[in-house]
Amino acid sequence: MIVLGIETSCDETAASICSNGEILSNIVSSQHVHKKFGGVIPEIASREHEKYLNVIVNSAIEDSGIKLLDLDAIAVTQGPGLSGTLLTGISFAKGLALGLNIPIIPINHLEAHIFANFLSEKNLNFPFVCLLVSGGHTQLWNVKNIDEYYLLGETLDDAAGEAFDKGARILKLGYPGGPEIEKIGKNGDPKAIDFPRSLLGKKSLDFSFSGLKTSLLYYMDSYDKNDSVTINDIAASYQQAIIDTLTIKLERAVEFTKSKNCVIAGGVASNTQLRFTIKNKLGINVYYPSMKYCTDNGAMISFLGEIKLSQGINSEINFSVEPNLSLV
Ligand code: KG4
Ligand code: ZN
Repeated sequence: MIVLGIETSCDETAASICSNGEILSNIVSSQHVHKKFGGVIPEIASREHEKYLNVIVNSAIEDSGIKLLDLDAIAVTQGPGLSGTLLTGISFAKGLALGLNIPIIPINHLEAHIFANFLSEKNLNFPFVCLLVSGGHTQLWNVKNIDEYYLLGETLDDAAGEAFDKGARILKLGYPGGPEIEKIGKNGDPKAIDFPRSLLGKKSLDFSFSGLKTSLLYYMDSYDKNDSVTINDIAASYQQAIIDTLTIKLERAVEFTKSKNCVIAGGVASNTQLRFTIKNKLGINVYYPSMKYCTDNGAMISFLGEIKLSQGINSEINFSVEPNLSLV
């Protein structure tokens, strides 16, 4: 089977071709226009998707070596995400599916992030615990099988990616904040400042990052550039607080479920220090997607789309966007 995947849930316009579990092409175009605003402007994001979607889909088809008429189905992100950007992708996908008279498969973006792990790790088996860390979500899932997901915990306020993005804004770094903080944090001391790790009690599997962000804000209010502590030290310490919190919660979830395997997924999973810390701390099998499949991409959509198609799952053409779609 050959499936085209389309992803437009936020500020990446992405398309990919998957055939029999293999990714034949994966084209991602990130919208740099948002950098000057320090965050994604939904209206601009929708217009950018409209401008480039046709080109990106055509490139994905060309790159894969297949022809448009070879497609068996189109998979497209239904949610969660920004309603306008999701609508752009879904409208495009519906038009193409109607024109080619092939099935269309709405995809849950969160489920696709989790399944990106199978792209890099063919030997990954169910069950496993997944730490899903993106710009909009921070959740712990007990993944027993496809379609068998149990939520163990989630953030009560900001997502981990959001904590990185907001922290970067306070430090006057660029957007997206995660890679910026990681970059300068490499030259800093993660122990320079003891930022709070909000653990919400001994057994909690939930997260909270808003206190950490406020703590950084207060720290910067009284920060003097002539201090011996550098901006690199502050970034490294802030990043360490996020990483420690995520690692402790994942460890608790693994203990609670007695799992032998765990994975991380989503944009924040591309953080090298997070990957390293989790691998070192947890005494079980730890998997993560290759870097290109952590942040938003079309490969995870086409890959999951093909799996759904093989299960006989597709949809009527009249499905709508689901900006708040959850996994269960
Ligand atoms: O999964 P993703 O691409 O989009 C959503 O579904 O939200 O995640 C984007 C988030 C952003 O908040 C970004 O700052 C964060 O992932 N991110 C990182 C890194 N690369 C991206 N956070 C920490 N370290 C990174 N290297
Ligand atoms: Zn995402």
